[in-house]
Amino acid sequence: MDNLTSFTLDNPNYLVKQLFPEDAPVLQKLYEQCNDFALLTDGVAFSPTAACEEFDTVPEGKTPEDNYIFGLFERNHILVGMIGSFKHYPDNQTWWLGMMMLAPIQRGQGLGTDFYRAFEHWLSAQGTQQISLCAIEANELGLRFWQKMGFKITRTISSRQFGIKTHKLYVLSRTAIAQPKSHLV
Ligand SMILES: CC(C)(COP(=O)(O)OP(=O)(O)OC[C@H]1O[C@@H](n2cnc3c(N)ncnc32)[C@H](O)[C@@H]1OP(=O)(O)O)[C@@H](O)C(=O)NCCC(=O)NCCS
Repeated sequence: MDNLTSFTLDNPNYLVKQLFPEDAPVLQKLYEQCNDFALLTDGVAFSPTAACEEFDTVPEGKTPEDNYIFGLFERNHILVGMIGSFKHYPDNQTWWLGMMMLAPIQRGQGLGTDFYRAFEHWLSAQGTQQISLCAIEANELGLRFWQKMGFKITRTISSRQFGIKTHKLYVLSRTAIAQPKSHLV
């Protein structure tokens, strides 16, 4: 793949860089701002080692080298968002988007849309055909976001344990389209 470590948004005030285990302290600060999401999903706040674990926790059959975590930075180098993804999972045509979060103050202004589209643009330019992810039913705003991004529900899982909570969840997928970032639909 070309240019594994960074890609750009249409918005010139932000840039995206791949994160590595040495970036865990910076990522942990973002996690701590996003405890609303941890409470909704797991019923407990992110652990103090959540960011470290993000680099090591991979699905069966994958290695840490397949784990791509991207940080969204303001021009002043403050981390304001992240996407965690697995290359070629669950099959060689697909990237799995395991997590996407923006700092609460940044949400609802179109930044997540720009970040996701730039990510998909980057993936499709590398020949990726499909992107899949899971969303819990309880995350209504998150689910709506993915549907706005063009994802369709492909499967429903009636019950799965997350932390101290149990959720119904949806698997969603979308064909990656290589178009200019601002024209992805
Ligand atoms: C989901 C998330 C990445 C979307 O990024 P965003 O910048 O807030 O989204 P945008 O402003 O580009 O798009 C707004 C759309 O996303 C949805 N949305 C999701 N979360 C939202 C939030 N907290 N505030 C406002 N809109 C939100 C809405 O459908 C909204 O559309 P609408 O304005 O027509 O209702 C971000 O809100 C976030 O980090 N949420 C917490 C973590 C999370 O839920 N991640 C997804 C896991 S499945």
